[in-house]
Amino acid sequence: MQGHRPQTMGWTPIPEAMTMEISRPSVTASQITALPSPCPCGVIKAEAFSLYYGQKVGVRNVSMEIYPCTVTAIIGPSGCGKSTFLRSINRMNDLIPGVRTEGRLLLDGHDIYDKRTNLVSLRQQVGMVFQRPNPFPKSIFDNVAYGPRLQGIRNRMQLQQIVEQSLRAAALWNEVKDGLNKSALALSGGQQQRLCIARALATRPRILLMDEPCSALDPIATGRIEDLIEQLKASYTIVIVTHNMQQAARISQWTAFFCLGELIEYDRTERIFSNPTNKQTEDYISGRFG
Ligand SMILES: Nc1ncnc2c1ncn2[C@@H]1O[C@H](COP(=O)(O)OP(=O)(O)OP(=O)(O)O)[C@@H](O)[C@H]1O
Ligand SMILES: [Mg+2]
Repeated sequence: MQGHRPQTMGWTPIPEAMTMEISRPSVTASQITALPSPCPCGVIKAEAFSLYYGQKVGVRNVSMEIYPCTVTAIIGPSGCGKSTFLRSINRMNDLIPGVRTEGRLLLDGHDIYDKRTNLVSLRQQVGMVFQRPNPFPKSIFDNVAYGPRLQGIRNRMQLQQIVEQSLRAAALWNEVKDGLNKSALALSGGQQQRLCIARALATRPRILLMDEPCSALDPIATGRIEDLIEQLKASYTIVIVTHNMQQAARISQWTAFFCLGELIEYDRTERIFSNPTNKQTEDYISGRFG
């Protein structure tokens, strides 16, 4: 992946036309590139961040810093706000009517919820992989090339290079290299999820959000995704929601425990799983509730 990573890790300019789908005003390319970018992997910081769905709390008063080039696991009982928080990082909640936020959520010091934030650029930097593999009903090649094409890349050789690099980075290349024109829907569930990771990587994000990426996969496919996450963390800031405590303990360096929309405890993973400070965390990880 390093091969087609931008040298300047700023908020990459995108063609004006691509901002049409978003309703909020966006910054111009020159404003975007002027933003500081201290680290190749993104630093995410929540400062008393809350998100409400109308009157309903999604997450409330969350303050935490997610460290670059690490894997951060978000755990907690169903409905505690894990997906809400994850989706907040690339503003996937924006389309839901009645959503409002308080506090700040920063990417490299830039407020993600600033009205000038360019959503297309943000989502290019912050890739997302969902619970169920969701390849487009297109060829393997076209799935991975989709984002780069949207970014305006038309050169066939350049696209081929990006597709190969992305598939290699997602540990899928060897399995599909002889059938790139075959339908993505013909792949197994585990292969489809790695394809979705390749598709997310193809737009050169710095941050990868994963919402229960293995919950629809068998143990072997899960193991491959976990190995892949282990490899990717050297170059990406990864935030993963998981209900699987063993998985969180295996793959993450930091773990955040949420309950009822609030961040209860956030610490190094080994500490959360061996000696948590909070009684609720202890009860949850020991299976007493959730
Ligand atoms: N689109 C929505 N509209 C209204 N309320 C929502 C919406 N999405 C989530 N919520 C509410 O926000 C709260 C947090 O939900 P969220 O999906 O973030 O939880 P979660 O921790 O990801 O749960 P799960 O483990 O079941 O996926 C819940 O009370 C939920 O009902
Ligand atoms: Mg969820």
